[in-house]
Amino acid sequence: DKNVGILALEVYTPSTYIEQTELEEHSGVPAGKYTIGLGQDGLGFCGDAEDVNSLALTVVHSLLEKYNIDPSEVGRLEVGTETLVDKSKSTKTVLMDLFPGNTNIEGATVVNACYGGTAALLNAFMWVESDGWDGRYAIVVAADIAAYARGGARPTSGAGAVAVLVGRDAPLTFNPKERATHAANVWDFFKPDHTVEYPTVDGKLSQVCYYQALEDVYTRFCDKLAEVSSKKKTTTTTSNGRSKGSTSSSPIKDKTDDEHMFTAKSHDYFVFHAPYNKLVQKSYGRLFFMDARKRFERTGDKDIEGIDPEWLSKPIHETYTDKGLEGSLKKMSAADYKRRLEDANMASKRVGNTYAASVFLGLASLIDRVGGRGDLTHGKSIAVFSYGSGALATMYRLKVRESASSRFSIPKMAEALKLMERLDSREKVHPSELDHALETRARMHRAGAPYSPVYPTIGRLFPGTYYLNGIDSNWIRTYSRV
Ligand code: ACO
Repeated sequence: DKNVGILALEVYTPSTYIEQTELEEHSGVPAGKYTIGLGQDGLGFCGDAEDVNSLALTVVHSLLEKYNIDPSEVGRLEVGTETLVDKSKSTKTVLMDLFPGNTNIEGATVVNACYGGTAALLNAFMWVESDGWDGRYAIVVAADIAAYARGGARPTSGAGAVAVLVGRDAPLTFNPKERATHAANVWDFFKPDHTVEYPTVDGKLSQVCYYQALEDVYTRFCDKLAEVSSKKKTTTTTSNGRSKGSTSSSPIKDKTDDEHMFTAKSHDYFVFHAPYNKLVQKSYGRLFFMDARKRFERTGDKDIEGIDPEWLSKPIHETYTDKGLEGSLKKMSAADYKRRLEDANMASKRVGNTYAASVFLGLASLIDRVGGRGDLTHGKSIAVFSYGSGALATMYRLKVRESASSRFSIPKMAEALKLMERLDSREKVHPSELDHALETRARMHRAGAPYSPVYPTIGRLFPGTYYLNGIDSNWIRTYSRV
């Protein structure tokens, strides 16, 4: 077995952050709106001395250092981002400075809102899985600076980058058959104006698009897993000679086949793209609703505790804004949310939305906390949901595996990440600093070339952080490392 999957990962988040309670006060909104209403605790941000290239340089350099990876061992490098600084030259090419002597590296930069990193990851998995693989590692980088204009969306800003090392004999494996995708043309969030960094966003529409994508991929993902599981079972019993039977090729439809059904409780952990925590909580609750509707469709069973039977046959689009249903689902899912999602969401609650990096930050948070406690053991199942506006979404499964390699393991990842400690070590600043930092970024966007960053870096950035020296009169960006 190839056991293609994730070998290691590294995270970078800015060294400065603000508290959401202080941002509430600073923004003049009622106390609780961002902390309880959106479920966010903190927000990490960058000024004009950091850009997507510097974030990616920082996180990849750190991954190579921590895991002692020689540049020649890497054969594929792909970046997912939506924080573009150039319409042609990709961030992947800038990262080539970290691979001296190795020009033989495939991959480019992929753009699709918050989904680019997942597209890059699937490409890397497929490359390592394929006959075309040359035996070297793939690195996937997801990096973004999420900056919103003043107003209701600003508290959902954030910034961060994650680098993922992909290969065979992995401690977190990916089965290509265990994934489902949703793709559609919607205008919920996009960046049509090149003179500003901020997106054009319809917040309420983006929430519904997120739910629709989730429900679509979840339904298909569960069917796919049921198919894989029933095939496995049939094959196993036949080869053991205990029972004869043919390999099923269609999803299980019969109501007696409940053992093959997958639900919101079937996976030990879920990692969701996290624009803000409240959306993740509500979305996980929606999976309980999808399970109830599926059961009703299959068996006619309307007697589901906590669910008004009327909701089961209502057109789904009429259910998105039903506060009664939302409250019931919150109650039904609260204990499982705590058990299966809370650890993965801990980092994004403190950092904010990191767009393409968000789902990877969730995975890192899970590894740091649950892996760090020694509970991410062989056989555990993690369902990952990635959403990018526009829209493109995928749900896939990772399985924890005790790898034969001593070089990569879950305990090693947890030890190398020390994510909560790193977040604790950040410098808390006043919310007016967020405004100032974003103003410097806005000015840089308008200024063109040449440009010298004004936001202070000296003594502020974590050791090992890359920063932008400046943009020269030929528009060439140069970087230094702290
Ligand atoms: N105490 C407690 N809760 C409060 C308080 C208070 N004082 N005041 C308001 N709230 C609650 C509201 O009831 C609401 O809860 P609900 O969502 O459960 O109804 C919540 O806080 C948010 O309040 P809203 O008035 O809806 O907030 P607003 O419209 O200002 O903005 C939004 C919220 C739409 C999420 C905005 O931040 C946004 O546009 N963000 C960017 C878009 C986004 O992240 N979309 C997600 C998917 S796409 C992506 O990843 C980019």
